[in-house]
Amino acid sequence: MQFYIDSADIEEIRQANSRGWVDGVTTNPTLVAKTGKRHMDVIKEICAEVKGLVSAEVISTTTDAMLKEGYELAKIADNVVVKIPMCEEGLIAVKKLAAEGIKTNVTLVFSPLQALLVAKAGATLVSPFVGRLDDIATDGMSLISQMRQIFDNYDYQTQILVASIRHPVHVLDSALIGADIVTIPFKVMQQLAQHPLTDKGIAQFLKDAQKMPN
Ligand code: G3P
Repeated sequence: MQFYIDSADIEEIRQANSRGWVDGVTTNPTLVAKTGKRHMDVIKEICAEVKGLVSAEVISTTTDAMLKEGYELAKIADNVVVKIPMCEEGLIAVKKLAAEGIKTNVTLVFSPLQALLVAKAGATLVSPFVGRLDDIATDGMSLISQMRQIFDNYDYQTQILVASIRHPVHVLDSALIGADIVTIPFKVMQQLAQHPLTDKGIAQFLKDAQKMPN
């Protein structure tokens, strides 16, 4: 299973990367705005740090403008994936970019039928948002199970990238379902490494180590 970091903050991306937790990166306009830096500069900086795929989102909403922006983003580095919001105009752009060999990630996916359209358009990645579904009292993880079943039924190659991860159980459920990738905030990645019995065990071993003769 691949782990991406859901962040535009180069410092936390470096920290996560040094721990072996970064197979790729996802950004969005909200995350980039938090850095206070220019979009292109942020993507360049991340691509210089990470070898895996880096999703950079277009801001436009019409096919022509999305394509223009997508070509600019794709020029930054070979590992850039053009991230396109789910909409009919976006699917036209995805189909064209895919035919030209440019990688795409369709974001803001909330239903299995949206995901099916994304796979049919030939996107590289599809990003279902589980946390935002949970927020409106809908089971986000059941969307992932349905997508897995549909993609396997027809052998679609589009990879399921679970997004809007809020806590470790989202990661566990994604792994059990067989999602290809999860994109995780750094804080949640750190939570994956923690267990109170591990902390208790380390403290006990340190205490007992004092009793060993020199
Ligand atoms: O990258 C998009 C996604 O992960 C957003 O997460 O927490 O804003 O719903 P969130």
